[in-house]
Amino acid sequence: MTLERSFAIEHAPPASFAFWREATYAGRVHLLPPTETSLALVERVRALLIEALGDEPRLAQHRMDNDALFARLSPVRRALYCDTSFHEPLRALVRERGGDPAEVAFDPLRLRVVRSRGDVEVPAARAVYYPHRDTWYAHPRTLIAWWIPLDDLDEDETFVFYPERFAREVPNDSEVFDYDEWVRDGWELKIGWQRRDAGLTARYPGVIGEVDAGRAVGFACRRGQQLTFSGAHFHQTLPQASGRTRFSLDFRLVHLGDEAAGEGAPNVDGRSRGSALRDYVRTP
Ligand SMILES: [Fe+2]
Repeated sequence: MTLERSFAIEHAPPASFAFWREATYAGRVHLLPPTETSLALVERVRALLIEALGDEPRLAQHRMDNDALFARLSPVRRALYCDTSFHEPLRALVRERGGDPAEVAFDPLRLRVVRSRGDVEVPAARAVYYPHRDTWYAHPRTLIAWWIPLDDLDEDETFVFYPERFAREVPNDSEVFDYDEWVRDGWELKIGWQRRDAGLTARYPGVIGEVDAGRAVGFACRRGQQLTFSGAHFHQTLPQASGRTRFSLDFRLVHLGDEAAGEGAPNVDGRSRGSALRDYVRTP
């Protein structure tokens, strides 16, 4: 595996939907331009944020405490995940990339909220900053994460990949994560539209001990761009102190044919139990 030496975030569109998937499973990360669909989605969500938080939603954290911010965002999170009118744009994004929505399943949109100084001021949010692989949370090796920023962001406001660990073990306790337990008490924990203390009580998989993860590769981005990467990538959200909250959207995609064929990224260290795939949204 030569990923560590050659790794750089790529900006050229892959030749086809199939090539993109294969490249993603091999650890390649693409940051592609905004499209009609991604920009429309961003605008729609920004309007919801303004409705929930007032003008300049990125500054709302200075106007209210974290509990109030969380409460106001809960209906937005719920709508993004559950409202089927927010599933259609995901299918459109797949089509824009040359794919057929009938061939994929997705874990719908989540709103990610990273407060300025949230790492020091909000203990319940600490899991946000854990370095991790998404596959440690019972997602399949075919998982492709699709991330869209709601604003232009500098490199120190986003997150980083550790390419040297893509295919190399990281000591972790992912065996603590059991998908059935995770959803047993309802989905509020999973989606985060209630239970703001969830971060203090839930068992999240994490790294064991101190790990030198090697080179960290970050990125700056523009509103509506689309970053895609394998759920097996070892990555980490950066704490930020820009004075503004960072909002982003993401969803997760699995190609059902690839999954059935045993394709996907290597699993070098994941031991979580159960499978989130059963609850992914299909296109009839
Ligand atoms: Fe992640």
